Amino acid sequence: MKVISTVKDLRETIREAGLCPVGLVPTMGALHSGHISLVINAMNQCPLVVVSIYVNPTQFNDKDDLRNYPRTPDEDKAFLGRYLRAGDILFVPGDEEIYPTPVRKEYNFGNLDNVMEALHRPGHFNGVAMVVNRLFEIVQPDFAFFGQKDFQQLAVIRELALRAGGRPAIVGNPIVRESDGLAMSSRNRLLGPEIRRNAGIIYMTISSASGMWKNRGVDEIREFVRSAIEGVPGFSVEYFEIADDVELKPVSSRSETVKGRKYYGCIAVKAGNIRLIDNIEFPL
Ligand code: PAJ
Repeated sequence: MKVISTVKDLRETIREAGLCPVGLVPTMGALHSGHISLVINAMNQCPLVVVSIYVNPTQFNDKDDLRNYPRTPDEDKAFLGRYLRAGDILFVPGDEEIYPTPVRKEYNFGNLDNVMEALHRPGHFNGVAMVVNRLFEIVQPDFAFFGQKDFQQLAVIRELALRAGGRPAIVGNPIVRESDGLAMSSRNRLLGPEIRRNAGIIYMTISSASGMWKNRGVDEIREFVRSAIEGVPGFSVEYFEIADDVELKPVSSRSETVKGRKYYGCIAVKAGNIRLIDNIEFPL
């Protein structure tokens, strides 16, 4: 694996490698097996893989969240070194490489940026789109790999790539979970021991809720989810919605669902003072 920190070196190294297709896996580091699943999928499809690690300030609407975000550069490098091939690239740019001039782009993603996460993290997806767009510009990948754990982010990025003429092709990867079902996340390492012990309640509850969808209403399911999770000390539900994976329109009853679409139960939970998200398919 080659470790590169400037756009100039990155462009040169990619050009010299002359390999195609090029795969990009953007991350913010504090790597775990969820990230590695994306890397392995990318390596299976692309002879040249670029993994980026950059904690992007423009997507944090909360200064404390940015300050407290876990940063483990040495562990990340060692972890990736166990998987990446000699010619693959770990790209670790500084702010000056990603944002050489302080221009702020304003995107309009319509409904995608008006529901669920967007209501609780204003400006978040605009920042995600800015950095991902910039990484696409720098790396010029043929494929880019993202996790379904960040359900709404994936929809926003698909839209971003569509507007850029369908390049790169976006590949969505299934959620990787801990043995108790908790979706892997860099933020999990910030959970206190008691909260972590109980955090399996999130997946357990949304899994049960997905089985209720056949014969119970959305309000009843939401009430079930809220009371199961909030029954555990230190846990509160920020939102729970059932939405399709194209327009991300939360439905208030089964009759609003559109045939041919897939629906997902999406949740954000405050676990202690850490915010966690998860989702699961709600088969019609
Ligand atoms: P980060 O949270 O580091 O996640 C990087 C990628 O890993 C994202 O595509 C995310 O969906 C995926 N991922 C995280 N946890 C996962 C899990 N348990 N299973 C499968 N995939 C998982 O998401 C970001 O960074 C940033 O917003 C970024 C896209 C890099 C832009 O800054």
